[in-house]
Amino acid sequence: MRKQCLLALGGTLLFPLLSSPWVFAQHDAHRPWSSPEEAGWLYWLLAALVIGGLFLFALWALYWRGKEPEKPSTGRYHALGSLVVVMTLFTLALYLIVAFQAQSTPPSARAWDWTPGETLADPGGANLSGEPYRGYDVFLAQGCTYCHTLYLRPEDVVTGWGEGAKAEDVSQIGDFVNFPYALLGTQRDGPDLTLIGRKIPDMTYQMEHLRDPRKFKPKSVMPTYGYLSDRDLRDLAAFLVSLGNLPAELKAGQVKQPEPTTQDAAVQLGQSLYRSLGCVGCHTADGSASAGPTWKELFGKTETLADGSTALVDEAYLIESILAPGEKVVQNFGNFMPPYPQLSQEQLDGLVAYIKSLGGQ
Ligand code: HEC
Ligand code: HEC
Repeated sequence: MRKQCLLALGGTLLFPLLSSPWVFAQHDAHRPWSSPEEAGWLYWLLAALVIGGLFLFALWALYWRGKEPEKPSTGRYHALGSLVVVMTLFTLALYLIVAFQAQSTPPSARAWDWTPGETLADPGGANLSGEPYRGYDVFLAQGCTYCHTLYLRPEDVVTGWGEGAKAEDVSQIGDFVNFPYALLGTQRDGPDLTLIGRKIPDMTYQMEHLRDPRKFKPKSVMPTYGYLSDRDLRDLAAFLVSLGNLPAELKAGQVKQPEPTTQDAAVQLGQSLYRSLGCVGCHTADGSASAGPTWKELFGKTETLADGSTALVDEAYLIESILAPGEKVVQNFGNFMPPYPQLSQEQLDGLVAYIKSLGGQ
């Protein structure tokens, strides 16, 4: 009986070992399985064996039910024991094949790639340098991940949460493979930071913002991190600057500060209301289609209304559209926009300023 058990065990171990090269050969070795169609035929053979085995086992158990011999036969218990072992190992093998496969993801072209001790000189021009790799540890230790995510979802590009992110910026698995550990985050009390280094590649700004976020964003709920040592702040800032920039470009000093935004306060208010009031759910700012008309180049255009008449989109038209959307319904759109009579004059002006900033005459 022991011999049989050993045989079963050996067979169980041998089978996945022998079969895994075949399974790997079924795929592009660099891509983990993401849908059942991508699994190789051997995977399904293994799965069928496990399921079929369990089915036969159930039949076998049913057959013997009520037919207990007077003295329990040890042979049957041994067979039962080896069956359990075989099934467990089969299941494990199924898991391992997938797990091995999943580990073979190569870094993407823009993968975050910093090693311990490697420093980054401030692309902002100040004579600062910091260690992005160590900064990541500070990021973890300070709990930044409680409020900030480090991945961009496809929907963030559409809803505006990606703050200017384009379709090609959406995070891929390969972007993360060089991180010593993954801190993708789940909660977004603050903005996603995937591209923060591309937006503001300036360590002085990042350190100052960490020391006192309300100096720049008066209503920020982000805690102050002025208690951190200068080195921690610099490493953290270097880490932030490393996000969204190619390491090679950063090291070669090729990352330039983007043009300072000359947005006035009204546009900024409008832009934040656009998101916080949920206009973003129905209106896009980049010309793409949504439930409502896009705001891109809306100002100054002549709108055709549902009744066939036309109206010039000026400030008064915009404000009426927000306070009483049912008054003038744009052609080819439903009359379902909620009215926003609760908005103050300042908020209305902000929204109008923001819409104007998106182009048009
Ligand atoms: C309690 C939530 C919270 C925590 C914790 C937090 N933040 Fe923030 N963070 C915010 C909010 C809200 C904003 C948006 C307002 C602002 O810019 O201050 C923000 C903005 C930012 C920005 C963008 C600044 C800009 O000008 O666009 C950076 C960078 C940032 N945080 C980094 C960090 C780092 C690094 C940590 C950890 C040391 C951290 N945050 C911890 C809430 C948080
Ligand atoms: C539930 C979806 C929805 C939401 C939310 C929504 N809108 Fe609209 N909006 C529409 C639709 C549909 C139209 C076109 C029909 C109409 O004119 O009423 C429209 C039209 C408009 C227009 C006129 C556009 C044009 O081409 O003439 C403006 C301006 C406008 N909305 C502003 C806003 C603002 C500001 C907010 C947020 C405070 C907002 N909308 C929120 C659906 C929405």
